Amino acid sequence: MKIEELNVDEHYKEIGEVLTGDQKKKGILIHAFQQIQKEYNYLPEDKLKELSKKLDIPLSDIYSAASFYKHFYFKPRGKNVVCVCMGTACHVRGASKVLERLEEEFGIKEGETTEDLSMTLETVGCVGCCGLAPVVTVNEEVVGDVGTKKVNEIIKRVKSSDKVRS
Ligand code: FES
Repeated sequence: MKIEELNVDEHYKEIGEVLTGDQKKKGILIHAFQQIQKEYNYLPEDKLKELSKKLDIPLSDIYSAASFYKHFYFKPRGKNVVCVCMGTACHVRGASKVLERLEEEFGIKEGETTEDLSMTLETVGCVGCCGLAPVVTVNEEVVGDVGTKKVNEIIKRVKSSDKVRS
């Protein structure tokens, strides 16, 4: 996304009369974050600086607004996002061992991304299907009852996927 192509007035054409200039600028931020993240899979600093300049909003306010939403990221993310559920049901059914195995295999800790950007490893509180515990999500897919065999399948899948984001 080219920041210079952002058109605040155009974006808010229909309700433009109701909003002040500042409100318009702040409102367009979320849209801009979504577009930037869609393209880069995270919010690169240079893009946020361009946005700050374009909208005449201090960079600190830009970061503050983006930090408010959990789904905006400031570091590059992997092509695959593997998320181990650490909620109570999954915890008692061995989620820690699943996490340890993935950390060892990929040489990263929870919250980190492999150097080749093939995978980001995350944890979550509960994904809402405790009956399948322990649960791991691979991108959008839920994998339940994860034991040694399924962890190995997940590892194989991630390792065989393309290393470079398309
Ligand atoms: S605790 Fe893991 S799905 Fe609920």
